[in-house]
Amino acid sequence: MFNDLPGFVFFTGKGGVGKTTIAAAVAAELAARDHILATKGARLDAQGRAMLEEDLRSPCTEEIAVFQAFSRVIREAGRKFVVMDTAPTGHTLLLLDATGSYHRDVLRHAGEASSRMTTPMMRLQDADKTKVLIVTLAETTPVLEASRLHDDLRRAGIEPYGWVVNASLAATGTTHPLLAARAATEAPEIAAVRDTLAARHAVVPMLAEDPVGTDRLRALVGHATELA
Ligand SMILES: Nc1ncnc2c1ncn2[C@@H]1O[C@H](COP(=O)(O)OP(=O)(O)OP(=O)(O)O)[C@@H](O)[C@H]1O
Ligand SMILES: [Mg+2]
Repeated sequence: MFNDLPGFVFFTGKGGVGKTTIAAAVAAELAARDHILATKGARLDAQGRAMLEEDLRSPCTEEIAVFQAFSRVIREAGRKFVVMDTAPTGHTLLLLDATGSYHRDVLRHAGEASSRMTTPMMRLQDADKTKVLIVTLAETTPVLEASRLHDDLRRAGIEPYGWVVNASLAATGTTHPLLAARAATEAPEIAAVRDTLAARHAVVPMLAEDPVGTDRLRALVGHATELA
């Protein structure tokens, strides 16, 4: 995945599935591979995160500022890596809504000049510039919600690049009877992701301790089984 990542990598999914962890792990891996690019990315990230946190607390007037920050980040990604973490699903859909309205507005007002313009929406829809990754757990409801999110993104003209199945017990290779029984329940979910839902996916094992800090985050990427 790292070899063909474009500028803008966008992680989305329902609450608590590990979006922030996976986004941080990917950012840490990119940072290790290219220190300079990622340092800039990290700074943008912190700023973006502050804006998004602000957005969650504020009424909708703040959404304009968040959308502007979002657009700027997408633009920056033309020149460098930007890894974006999001708040749970509803927030992603809100951002897409704002991006779509802006896109339609710009085109309506630009007239003939519109053929020379690139809106943030157009960058999101361009698979060479943006890769959207859906993070889920290998459980029935999270997978169902992730597939709805996939459909919503597709309706917005954005084809998700792939799925990350996080915190998988099956991927730990546990032999403990209780854990192994739990792990077996993941099999049909992972099969559905592999066979029908995702263009490509990676399975990340559940760790005994929170993957905090650069070393553990990078180890998480190392443990991931990437499956086409
Ligand atoms: N593979 C894993 N193994 C063990 N713990 C994990 C793993 N992935 C994430 N966690 C832990 O699960 C918790 C939730 O993860 P995280 O905060 O990344 O989820 P999120 O999707 O960003 O949540 P939110 O929707 O609230 O933003 C954290 O405590 C994190 O350390
Ligand atoms: Mg998070």
